[in-house]
Amino acid sequence: MDKPFGLLAELTYGCPLSCVYCSNPLNLADYSDELSTADWERVLGEAHELGVWQLHLSGGEPLLRRDLVTIVRRANELGMYSNLVTSALGLSRRRAEQLKAAGLDHVQISIQSDEPTVSDRIAGTRSFARKIEAARLVKELDWPFTLNVVLHRYNIDRVAEILGLAEDLQADRVELANTQYYGWAWLNRDALLPGKDQLDRAESVVRAARARLSDRMEIVYILPDYYGKYPKPCMGGWGRRQLTVTPTGDVLPCPAAHTLPLPRANVRTESLARIWTESAIFQRFRGTDWMPEPCRSCPRREIDFGGCRCQAFHLTGDAARTDPVCHLSPDHDLVAEVVRAANEAGGPRERQLVPRPHR
Ligand code: SF4
Ligand code: FES
Repeated sequence: MDKPFGLLAELTYGCPLSCVYCSNPLNLADYSDELSTADWERVLGEAHELGVWQLHLSGGEPLLRRDLVTIVRRANELGMYSNLVTSALGLSRRRAEQLKAAGLDHVQISIQSDEPTVSDRIAGTRSFARKIEAARLVKELDWPFTLNVVLHRYNIDRVAEILGLAEDLQADRVELANTQYYGWAWLNRDALLPGKDQLDRAESVVRAARARLSDRMEIVYILPDYYGKYPKPCMGGWGRRQLTVTPTGDVLPCPAAHTLPLPRANVRTESLARIWTESAIFQRFRGTDWMPEPCRSCPRREIDFGGCRCQAFHLTGDAARTDPVCHLSPDHDLVAEVVRAANEAGGPRERQLVPRPHR
């Protein structure tokens, strides 16, 4: 069995934004009994013993946790590389300086578009100006800085301008991630999925920018897998290299696995090592033995691991089926139909979007 190297610590699902593409659970109210500071310190120690060296502090909005500096300090003591994944709301100069002193290694700030009005509308909160201010502070404090933008039908035509803003903010890395359809994004999927013409234009802008900025900025462009021939190797394989701990202590092979009908495992009652090695949830889709055809005899089965279990479940009701994104899947029509609808003249209407509530 491989050892995990990455831990996604979802510290809270509280968030000042209400993005329509949020992948957090729909039953947010069930996550209010959050782990304590001591719980997180113990979890980090156990993760370190298990081999984890990369820590992503996420949510919701991790800055809402008053003990964030303490958690970062503990990660630093353990020698972990820590990354703050934030909307930047709440990243005051004082807080930033405390996090820097505690040893935070990297900051990733999300924006929703390059234009204040559009960005604020997608975020559901007036936030753009504060994000830009925080991004400048991050550079001033000399952190490696990633600018993250989730792409969809309503901002993908702004990729050139978004890259211009990233350049202006001196981002070391920009992550242009087409929406993954989990949580609130799943509810809004039909309205968010871009058309093929939009994707083609965005890809050519990204290609040109990569050539122009190769010495200054890494540009990561994550394709929408509904348009791919093969699925993504989700999480690099189930229970293979990554684990997620939710605000209430459930340990999951991926952030969306709470949607699957699998037994739960929680750090309040079991050690992380035991959950990683023995729990039913981690064992269920580990390796290739669980695979049905066509994955079972496919030469790509150890490249994409049959795709995404959560996507297979969302689309077919059975997490053990081949990800319908794969053109070889017997369920591929489910994806092809959504893509066809997204490319109809006129397209879907924005007023169908459902915003995520603050908690
Ligand atoms: Fe991947 Fe399965 Fe499709 Fe083969 S059949 S490409 S293993 S999803
Ligand atoms: Fe759960 Fe892909 S998001 S396996």
